[in-house]
Amino acid sequence: MMELLILFLLVIQLITQISASQYQSIQVLANADNDYTCSPPNPARLAAAGQCTDKATGKGWSNATACPLKVCCSKFGFVYAIGTTSDFCGGTMVISPQCDGTTAHQRTIGYYEGWNLDQRLCDKMAPEDARLGIYTHINFAFALINPTTFRIAPMDQNTGTRYQSITSLKNRQPSLKVWIAIGGWAMNDPGATRTTFSDLAASEANQDIFFETLVSFMLSNRLDGVDLDWEYPAAADRGFDIINLKPYVDPLNIMAYNIHGAWDGSVESLGKHALAHTNLSEINLALELLWRNIINPARINLCLGFYGRIFTLASRDSTEGVLSATDVYGVVENGNG
Ligand SMILES: *[C@@H]1O[C@H](CO)[C@@H](O)[C@H](O)[C@H]1NC(C)=O
Ligand SMILES: *[C@@H]1O[C@H](CO)[C@@H](O)[C@H](O)[C@H]1NC(C)=O
Repeated sequence: MMELLILFLLVIQLITQISASQYQSIQVLANADNDYTCSPPNPARLAAAGQCTDKATGKGWSNATACPLKVCCSKFGFVYAIGTTSDFCGGTMVISPQCDGTTAHQRTIGYYEGWNLDQRLCDKMAPEDARLGIYTHINFAFALINPTTFRIAPMDQNTGTRYQSITSLKNRQPSLKVWIAIGGWAMNDPGATRTTFSDLAASEANQDIFFETLVSFMLSNRLDGVDLDWEYPAAADRGFDIINLKPYVDPLNIMAYNIHGAWDGSVESLGKHALAHTNLSEINLALELLWRNIINPARINLCLGFYGRIFTLASRDSTEGVLSATDVYGVVENGNG
């Protein structure tokens, strides 16, 4: 049985795009202490105070008795005024699950960059050079979906020649699973394929074609699973429904990288800083959304980026900056660490 994997970026702002009808069964968070939480029996009061507005939470929520994804409304009442911290939820905080520190390595998944041999100037990795014995899964990035025919398609000609080189690593590590990652930013960025995932989701006829070509692609390339890399199902013109998706996917990949980058510069509340692209406090906050919705933590893959990001700093004296894992190893190996 093939496993399906959905890649989600969970940031608080994106909740605002959720379609209301999907969340009829959401339970209300009880919180008697705060009259600004989204709780019954007084949705009118919330609407009057400008909270849980349709503008902030998506169509139809102004009359609802709970916010989408069990988040809370805030006393501030502006667009995006929903969240999971005490500012929003008063005393009703979610308890994050704890583990004993021995379970984290049940799945160790590496993404193989199919185009690295063609595009990178250094630090290239041929399929046969992938380190074995570390990963339980290797996901080959990426295959695409043809936007007109909805057949699975190689990302480009060269990348399309490398699937079997990766799956043949299974001969050297029989426990290894190799999955195909479909999508990625290249497919989701503005361009011909931008709406392809949505077009696929909206049409059973398109899905029939896609799944048929997918299955024969997987069989002929000895692939074990599929990682649907839809970035991001919650964006403005797309739907996102973690609760109803739950039965159909197995692991959930949480993108705990690219949280920050040069794009922060145009966000007023963040500003121009060379922040690390990941941040544990912010990851914990994003994960609260899952705990609120009773997602089993054993299903979560925490995804980290091992690449660096480049910033042009305003001054040579700046102490901000980030190194990639390769940079760090290079410094240590050269004895400069
Ligand atoms: C919310 O309720 C008000 C008052 O009953 C009604 O006029 C309005 O159309 C409702 N809004 C939605 C989105 O259902
Ligand atoms: C991580 O995020 C928190 C909350 O936004 C912030 O206070 C903290 O400074 C960040 N840490 C780093 C290393 O950027």
